[in-house]
Amino acid sequence: MLSKKQKEHQKLIVYQIYPRSFKDSNGDGIGDLNGITEKLDYLKELGINAIWLSPCYKSPNEDNGYDISDYRDIMDEFGTLDDWKRMIDEMHKRGIKLIMDLVANHTSSEHKWFKEARKSKDNPYRDYYYWADQPLNDWQSVFGGSAWEYDKATDQYYLHSFAIGQPDLNWENPKVREEMKAVIDYWIELGVDGFRCDVLDYISKDFKLNKMSNGPRFHEFVHELFGRAETEHIFTVGECGLNNAEDIKRLIGADRGELSTVFQFDHIDVGRRSKFAPQPFKLDEIRDRLIKWQTAFQEHDLVGTLFFENHDQPRAVSRFGSEEKRYESATMLAAMSYLQRGIPFIYQGQEIGSIDPHYDSIDDFDDIETVNYYKMNPEKLDEAELIERINFGSRDNSRRPMPWSDEENGGFGGKPWIRAHSGYKDINVAADMSAERSVYKFFKELIALRTNNEAFTDGVWENLTGKRDGIYIYRRYTDSESYIVVCNFENESVLDIDYTGECVLSNSGIREINGVYAPYECAVYKQNDCTRK
Ligand code: GLC
Ligand code: CA
Repeated sequence: MLSKKQKEHQKLIVYQIYPRSFKDSNGDGIGDLNGITEKLDYLKELGINAIWLSPCYKSPNEDNGYDISDYRDIMDEFGTLDDWKRMIDEMHKRGIKLIMDLVANHTSSEHKWFKEARKSKDNPYRDYYYWADQPLNDWQSVFGGSAWEYDKATDQYYLHSFAIGQPDLNWENPKVREEMKAVIDYWIELGVDGFRCDVLDYISKDFKLNKMSNGPRFHEFVHELFGRAETEHIFTVGECGLNNAEDIKRLIGADRGELSTVFQFDHIDVGRRSKFAPQPFKLDEIRDRLIKWQTAFQEHDLVGTLFFENHDQPRAVSRFGSEEKRYESATMLAAMSYLQRGIPFIYQGQEIGSIDPHYDSIDDFDDIETVNYYKMNPEKLDEAELIERINFGSRDNSRRPMPWSDEENGGFGGKPWIRAHSGYKDINVAADMSAERSVYKFFKELIALRTNNEAFTDGVWENLTGKRDGIYIYRRYTDSESYIVVCNFENESVLDIDYTGECVLSNSGIREINGVYAPYECAVYKQNDCTRK
């Protein structure tokens, strides 16, 4: 049985905003908080009820805000704390919750704590970070190169699991934990409804077993942060690389006082050898991983997350669907994912079927991970191959300014901080919303279907796919409602399950059941007799 809180969380439909690229309200080419406030009606209309905002705190932007120099204030380019207060008020007026990004594993090297810490070995902030005379191990930073950086002032090395400008906080130090609790409470006081916790499993390291994340004190630390009266009512989702149901249960089980839910990446790691290297795959593999986790989460009374995209991933249509059949594949992937059991997360631009842009030069990329990969060129590829890899895997694929219209730079605002999407003339909000086959309209219908029928929010999930290739069929039901979701990935398929029903959502316009599905066709049927299997 799920707890009352878990049941509430299943009703969330979260939209992720990458503020730098969402809407520029004052023409300086950088998205900002007032831009978000301007667009809340657009989001309300879509039907979402929560926003996860990527970091908007003060930052020198070595990793676009994931390097925080002041946890309690807003980045100048994004506006002021008053703008933030207006934004959250306007969200709440519309019944939209605000989930802030909590970057707890590291600060910016420009943060006061680190500026102090690096001054001398006996500085009071020294132990806020990890220091050593020599690198303690051969850990590699996620963005390439050694995770240990030499710092001349004190002739020691510090640990950074990510960029050089993102020194890891030493969570073994109780003062660090107190600081982070105070940061959480500060934002809760100001009215936030939850946190998305960045690379949270990195906060406990295992120097003995040589593991950078998910160390022995991980659960203890998370419990200390979120198992408190002050945090009881908030929603938390962790970005964690846990890949076993028992471990996940220890983190998000209802009785644990740790997190509400977790992002896992198993299903989107299909189709690539590494971030920048594609490999052949079938959608069946993704389906099988989804089925595996749907089964495990249901068996263990856990609530998971449903997503294909975020600000670190290329666009799902380009990776898993078809750019030629953009409408069909964007909508099918949405139905396949978001009607399952769990909490949907939509990334900005996904609701209009965005695809990856394409550029010929590294100069059109900004992301630190991408630029480091280009510089290091670990597989010694020639220039053309390297640029192809980058077009495939770069995080900038999903970080281009949101195209609102076909006006210059997609009507984003001023000349954008990063080159506009190469395809904004064709794919933009205004064009999609007025198209006959509109991805936005399909998302809206899908969200309404999910929101208005308990079978999708709280119902049982049952896999009906059988041993078929190229198709995913599942059922969602309660005692009084039952729906069947059919998604075709590849060739025409014949559906030979014996059921009757009324089609309530379709991306082909075909509303009767004829057992034949075109490529990327999806349909949802309401079963008249909900007791049958
Ligand atoms: C997470 C974020 C990513 C960031 C990294 C370091 O993976 O999603 O964007 O670069 O953490 O904070
Ligand atoms: Ca701006």
